[in-house]
Amino acid sequence: MSKFWRDDFEYVALIEDLLELEEVQSLEKFKHHKVTNRLAHSISVSYYSYCLAKKLKLNTRAIARAGLLHDLFFYESEDKDLVGGRGHYWEHPRIALKNAKKLTQLSDLECDIIEKHMFGATRELPKYKESWIVTLMDKRAAMTELAVGGSNILKSAVSRYQQVMYQSFTTASLAHETIDQTIDN
Ligand SMILES: [Fe+2]
Ligand SMILES: [Fe+2]
Repeated sequence: MSKFWRDDFEYVALIEDLLELEEVQSLEKFKHHKVTNRLAHSISVSYYSYCLAKKLKLNTRAIARAGLLHDLFFYESEDKDLVGGRGHYWEHPRIALKNAKKLTQLSDLECDIIEKHMFGATRELPKYKESWIVTLMDKRAAMTELAVGGSNILKSAVSRYQQVMYQSFTTASLAHETIDQTIDN
């Protein structure tokens, strides 16, 4: 099975009509889990869910399409406190479902995948195996993205620390040289 989703023509054929839509493309503008954008995250959840569904002989079309649309909401994650209602975790799957329904006709299975993908943070149990896969792959993707983000923050902190230490060392060396020259004179 292809590792890179674009090379997996069977997968691409299932989602390409959705992927071309302006609304779906616009997800690229939104940051997601600090290190990625919402389109990349959605494709990742969709593709890994599709790969597992294929192995388990489940509905690959529904999982690929609903996986792609599971976070179809158009506000920055940082603004999640402004969403109102029952809060971001409960509301955004419903907002995504409403938005997805404007773009394409969805089966009951696809609706369930989108609506229940926040299981864990919300209590409603996913009804189908495919919905369980997407909620798990969503968490897996989130953990990977957050780990990469954490590691990037750590790397930049270490690099800043090294720069500061180097500058301090250089300043200290210059000071020593000046002191030595003063003593010699
Ligand atoms: Fe989500
Ligand atoms: Fe997600």
